[in-house]
Amino acid sequence: MNLKDLYINFFLSKDHKQIPSAPVVPENDPSVLFNTAGMQPLIPYLMGQTHPYGTRLCDYQKCIRTNDLDEVGDTTHHTFFEMLGNWSLGDYFKDESIEWSFEFLTKILNIPVEKLAVTVFAGNDNIPFDEVSYNKWISLGISEDRICKTVEDNFWIAGESGPCGGDTEIFYFRSNDEIPSKFDPEDNRWVEIWNNVFMQYYKSSTGEVTELPKKNVDTGMGVERTVAILEGVNDNYLSSVWKDVIELISEIAGLDYVGNEKSMRIIADHIRTAVFISADPAGIKPSNTDQGYILRRLIRRAIRHAKKLNIDINSDWEQKIATLILDKYKKYYKELEDNYNIVLDVLSNEKIKFNRTLEKGLREFEKVVAKMNNIDATTAFHLYDTYGFPIELTEELANERNISVDIEGFNAKFKEHQELSRTASAGKFKGGLASNGEIEIKYHTATHLLNAALKEVVGPDVHQKGSNITSERMRFDFSCDHKLTDDEKAKTEELVNEWIKAGLDVTVEEMNKEEAINSGAECMFIEKYPDIVTVYSIGTVSKELCGGPHVTNTSELGTFKIKKEEASSAGVRRIKAVLE
Ligand code: ALA
Repeated sequence: MNLKDLYINFFLSKDHKQIPSAPVVPENDPSVLFNTAGMQPLIPYLMGQTHPYGTRLCDYQKCIRTNDLDEVGDTTHHTFFEMLGNWSLGDYFKDESIEWSFEFLTKILNIPVEKLAVTVFAGNDNIPFDEVSYNKWISLGISEDRICKTVEDNFWIAGESGPCGGDTEIFYFRSNDEIPSKFDPEDNRWVEIWNNVFMQYYKSSTGEVTELPKKNVDTGMGVERTVAILEGVNDNYLSSVWKDVIELISEIAGLDYVGNEKSMRIIADHIRTAVFISADPAGIKPSNTDQGYILRRLIRRAIRHAKKLNIDINSDWEQKIATLILDKYKKYYKELEDNYNIVLDVLSNEKIKFNRTLEKGLREFEKVVAKMNNIDATTAFHLYDTYGFPIELTEELANERNISVDIEGFNAKFKEHQELSRTASAGKFKGGLASNGEIEIKYHTATHLLNAALKEVVGPDVHQKGSNITSERMRFDFSCDHKLTDDEKAKTEELVNEWIKAGLDVTVEEMNKEEAINSGAECMFIEKYPDIVTVYSIGTVSKELCGGPHVTNTSELGTFKIKKEEASSAGVRRIKAVLE
């Protein structure tokens, strides 16, 4: 049996209920992009809310930590990992928690006591020394020399505020050396494997610490690290968690792992995380913001390392790796089964998109570094804007050549660019156009055509009320007092397709705002536009104030299809449409 099953079974035998792993994208917590610990989805319950499963819970939780993404490539760092956890919500406390951890480690995992050591909270001005935990460890047979009292490392909180408390950490001696009699947590042969937090306080954002209504226990054990330790390997990627993935990458590349560790680890780690992000019910797609940006960075970085290994990028290498990962984890996480094909599509679409410009981008990069010994903000932004290089990729390439990148300048330009397009489009394409990929640009132009077609078919009173674009579809809200008839829908669709077939040129001009309005250009919120505006025209059928970008000719759009027409709010209808 594997570690996850052993763990869950053990805590079920101690009257715990297993709760399902929450999605990696938090459902009700916009303050973090991903769940970073098992306790995160349980915060409301640690704060006092009643949990429907009771007061003793256990699970394995999907976690993603991206703060040290650049460290991935060494033996221990992963962006995605699984955390085993058991909780008491005002039920048992220190004694039982410590006793069960000890029992699981020594009786179920059969770890010899001599290989274990612990830290306990030494006490500070506000919170006293954790005598209960100390005495408990002694009573279980951990010698005084193997207990270290610390202050900083024995207080746990997720981030700056929230439920928190003193903790006791359990360490394992990961070495064949003789075990020193005295435990030193700074000696890196001792690795932390389990953290038991006694959550009895709440720290507010202003730093005030108060008692929680109940005393809770929150524990966390990382699967990847513990499995590697138990299997006696010093490189996590050689444990059974990763071995098959690494072997597959090695087979695809036709290269040994030894000598190519870094790139192989990055590919394995990043594809696995990309699989879990894109399988999440939140429906994340690669984009230039938030979780979508992390997803994009991970996929693009994996592609670059695959190139370094001379893997044929256009082959189905990433599909093979993702399939192995999906098959391996789907019995634990149902969303992988449900979204199996979506995950594979996300990877191949992003690969195609990146591949189209990667070669050119790399050539451009080489050209730049041949001429200069640093990368200025304009060049970094050009690589981002035109070739889709996340700034981190430019930085990584530059680091490899020992040249610097003006990150601050890039960030300023990035912000400037965001503000410009925000003012220009006045919230019109919020969300959707954050990612100016080719598909999104096509949808953007199709939005203008749809707006114009509706005016012609339904009447001149139709005005745009909102729009949202993803790489999968467009959504368009417009003023209209009735449900569109089948005939109106068919005519609108026909007209848009007629204009697409006609191959109309899309042109852009700058004019002052008044002049634009007088010329009959369509716009949503005139007061939000700057004095000088850009106006996009499509042949003679559409003219709109807009920040762009657009295709240059409508013939690039394919076939337009209305998928759905429905009410959005009073007097506003909504159309969802696709380009095929
Ligand atoms: N929440 C604690 C941790 O993540 C258990 O270490």
